[in-house]
Amino acid sequence: MRVYNFSAGPAQLPLPVLKQAAAELTDWQGSGMSVLEVSHRGKDFVACAADAEAAFRRVAGVPDNYRVLFLAGGATGQFSAIPMNLAAPGATAAFINTGQWSKKAIKEAARQGVNVVTVADESASSYTTTPEPGSFTVPADAAYLHYTPNETIGGVEFPYVPDADDVPLVADFSSTYLSRAIDVERFGVIYGGAQKNLGPAGLAIVVVREDLLDRARPDVPAIWDWKVMAGADSMLNTPPTFSIYLLGLILHWIESTGGLEAMGERNRAKAERLYAAIDASDFYTNPVEPRSRSWMNIPFTLADPALDADFLAGADAAGLTNLKGHRSVGGMRASIYNAMPDDGVTALIDYMTEFERTRA
Ligand SMILES: Cc1ncc(COP(=O)(O)O)c(C=O)c1O
Repeated sequence: MRVYNFSAGPAQLPLPVLKQAAAELTDWQGSGMSVLEVSHRGKDFVACAADAEAAFRRVAGVPDNYRVLFLAGGATGQFSAIPMNLAAPGATAAFINTGQWSKKAIKEAARQGVNVVTVADESASSYTTTPEPGSFTVPADAAYLHYTPNETIGGVEFPYVPDADDVPLVADFSSTYLSRAIDVERFGVIYGGAQKNLGPAGLAIVVVREDLLDRARPDVPAIWDWKVMAGADSMLNTPPTFSIYLLGLILHWIESTGGLEAMGERNRAKAERLYAAIDASDFYTNPVEPRSRSWMNIPFTLADPALDADFLAGADAAGLTNLKGHRSVGGMRASIYNAMPDDGVTALIDYMTEFERTRA
């Protein structure tokens, strides 16, 4: 039996994609081998990676003057790569701090000698808010402005794209990657791990504007150098081949379900239904200011935390797994990424309603 998996990541994947991967696992495209066993330099895999990139470009609407890189090391690897590629030691970089993941990006830049300027800091609200548009000023000499469109742990999502004027905007899209239509031209760099909306762990997808490829520090290791990686079609070394293959399948699935406009509508509707259920009850609470509520990660607490364990055990028994909240927030967290069907959200709401009725 398939459960509804509300994990924050690695996360539930679309069933048709898993079925296709399973069906062709032992004999991929008539090769007599699985995709896990073929050379990344062979023509079949090179075509597979090119197809994944082309599909990503179509789905996300990536303009020609941007490169799409498939890299190992996850989003955390990019926390390191971003300063190495964009800011000399001592140079200024601007940051918006909306929670745990913003802080990790900041910490890594500071570790590399970047002069960190935090232009907006939401710690005073315990990270339940995003700054108002126009409420912060980005230094004109900043090498970039970094922000986290969706904070996976706090469940806080920007309802707008920050304006950085001529400063390149760098965004960690890990937990909201391709969850809705996106205007790539607003960004200098878009990056994120694939393991929530776009596939298995082990793959970071980096979209970088070409003019930013000439700003790397001279001593950046080749593996972290975006220009080197772009020149090698992301295959300087052996890439995470299975993750790239699965990314391709997922992108085709997104296209077959109507692309990002339709995906965004479904995600908005799923989130609205769950927030409506939480708000209609005195038993469940979501702490995030309404305008900054995430469509992807929805934390909620029970009025009586002594019931948390029972709530989770009952949910597990009902096939609703991984609802335990992050240890820093407590309570519950429902991650409802692209692959979470409407029925999964309905099942969760029904379970919550029944739990409240019998236990409140
Ligand atoms: C917003 C955000 N950024 C970065 C990361 C780190 O990603 P990775 O584990 O791929 O390095 C995560 C992981 O959950 C995340 O949610």
